[in-house]
Amino acid sequence: MLELRHVSKRYGRGAVGAADVSLMVEPGEIIALFGPSGSGKTSILHIMGLLQEPDEGEVWLAGERVDHLRERKAADVRSRQLGFVFQSFGLLPLLSGEENVAVALRLLGIGGEAARARVSNAMAAVGITHRAQHRPGEMSGGEQQRIALARALVHAPQVLLADEPTGELDTATAGYVVDMLRKVARNGATVVIATHDPVALDYVDTAFFVRDGTLHVPDRAELQMWITEGTGVLSDAGSAAYPGSRRLTATPPAPPPPHAGPPLPPSPPLPPPAQPGAAAPPEKKAPPVVESDPWGLPH
Ligand SMILES: Nc1ncnc2c1ncn2[C@@H]1O[C@H](COP(=O)(O)OP(=O)(O)OP(=O)(O)O)[C@@H](O)[C@H]1O
Ligand SMILES: [Mg+2]
Repeated sequence: MLELRHVSKRYGRGAVGAADVSLMVEPGEIIALFGPSGSGKTSILHIMGLLQEPDEGEVWLAGERVDHLRERKAADVRSRQLGFVFQSFGLLPLLSGEENVAVALRLLGIGGEAARARVSNAMAAVGITHRAQHRPGEMSGGEQQRIALARALVHAPQVLLADEPTGELDTATAGYVVDMLRKVARNGATVVIATHDPVALDYVDTAFFVRDGTLHVPDRAELQMWITEGTGVLSDAGSAAYPGSRRLTATPPAPPPPHAGPPLPPSPPLPPPAQPGAAAPPEKKAPPVVESDPWGLPH
């Protein structure tokens, strides 16, 4: 479980990254942070990912406080427990698809046959096996993002953080990628995405609106209009301040059972880029299937 407790972050000249943000995201859950440019989405994501320290407040990961760790220990937590996906994919241009995925395991000292099996499972799970030998420059944006997703998931992280993961993708491909992120959550990970993409709205359990570093839970219809029409800010009536502390007092969920299920099946091919609005929205609020290792891979 990922939790922020009264987290604040300020930069110079009055810029606000986070202002008393409290939030709890559980395994099996996917949430999105929407909001105008400069509102604090990336800052909040970076604080969750131990890429940035908050000025105040606490970050908890799987029952451990992690905001005050020394850099070496923070790097260890990042490479073992967290996965990252970025808008611009962040792939190494001279490496093949599978070599890019293997990089995440190399950081953990995992190589050889064990690494090969994990890489091939992760690539199959996101339906990108057929691009294993290609370099990023020889792939479409959607294919590159699937390689990046396989790299983010190959070590079976507990938490997946994605900053504008569909920012460079067309609507149909964006729907496919967000659907995949949702499946990752339903297989037991905690998933947080920062996005401007209206497609994401159909796939997340909770859509937050970030304004000046604070979290709000907007009316969905009003948020949809805000996203698609790009108007200034949501009215206060449609955007209740998020009382994160209410959830902080909730009963903690039961620990996940030991992993039993198979890894995710290979995904179907991309849908044709036809209808705006893209992939069919999934069922709402399916109960999370909590597994300790979404990939069924040995540790
Ligand atoms: N390293 C930094 N140093 C100084 N100010 C920063 C830094 N990072 C972010 N900021 C400022 O903090 C505020 C929040 O920025 P952040 O990147 O979190 O916004 P965002 O919601 O992700 O925006 P976008 O949608 O454009 O990605 C902005 O005013 C930004 O200029
Ligand atoms: Mg950002």
